[in-house]
Amino acid sequence: MTTCYINGKYKPLNQSYVSVTDRGFQFSDGVYEVISVFKGELVDLNLHINRLFVSLKKMNMKTKFNRNQIINITNKIKKLNKLKMGIIYIQITRGDQNPREHKYPDKLKPNIIIYSINKNFEYLNKLALKGVKTSLYPDIRWHRSDIKSISLLGNVLAANHAKENKSHEAVLFDNRNMITEGNSSSIWIIKKNKCITHPLNFRILKGCTRHKLISILKKNKFKFEEKKFSIKSLLDADEAFMTSATNFVMPIVKVDKFTISNGKPGLNTLKFRSLFINAI
Ligand code: PDD
Repeated sequence: MTTCYINGKYKPLNQSYVSVTDRGFQFSDGVYEVISVFKGELVDLNLHINRLFVSLKKMNMKTKFNRNQIINITNKIKKLNKLKMGIIYIQITRGDQNPREHKYPDKLKPNIIIYSINKNFEYLNKLALKGVKTSLYPDIRWHRSDIKSISLLGNVLAANHAKENKSHEAVLFDNRNMITEGNSSSIWIIKKNKCITHPLNFRILKGCTRHKLISILKKNKFKFEEKKFSIKSLLDADEAFMTSATNFVMPIVKVDKFTISNGKPGLNTLKFRSLFINAI
């Protein structure tokens, strides 16, 4: 049985509970992180922990834990669960509040849970050789997608639209038909040997994989630009791909009924995937 850290205790996951008065349960009032473990190593741990604390700050949430304490618990969960391939899930909600009220008092004790899930990255390696289909879906999320909040209904509806269309991921577009990001990934295109992805603002999450890939692109002198691009540019792209902690760099070969380029994973995209995997 998976061990879960919950508010100072290590318990079997199926015996780990928070109260029904948890603000995360009632208001989606909380933040989270998903960190990959690849061949026993935590991937981009510092980037994820930094982003967790940025999200907490943006939500005006305080925890008695500092970065190192969260890192220590994360490592302990990895060890207790003997995790070699998979993810660590961290969730911090604002805490229990009874009676329920939208307004929160100053002093609440956050509920913190950290546990792991085994994941088969080999399957994703196979998928990457074929590339994935995606589906377009309007970006109906709130206007603070830069916060990694557990309020994910817009992402959930998008992901299930993708599932119904036998797609791996939904690609979200705003009311001007510009691509923002995926339901749980950053979206990129390559046009004339230049990588393009949405600029950082309130409409997208600052992806840790995105961040890491940008440094790989710089190192390899591959041109890139952070700029908005339209649905049409996506469909006309030379290559398209998505990045996330769980997919690394994943080629996109279809968007609904449209084929990207020749329908095969782009050579640059596959190169970026192997550079990324080497780097981790
Ligand atoms: N999602 N955009 C959104 C909306 C995301 O949910 C994610 C990650 C990303 C990519 O971020 P990163 O490269 O740091 O994983 C972009 C995780 C994997 C999830 O919710 O499961």
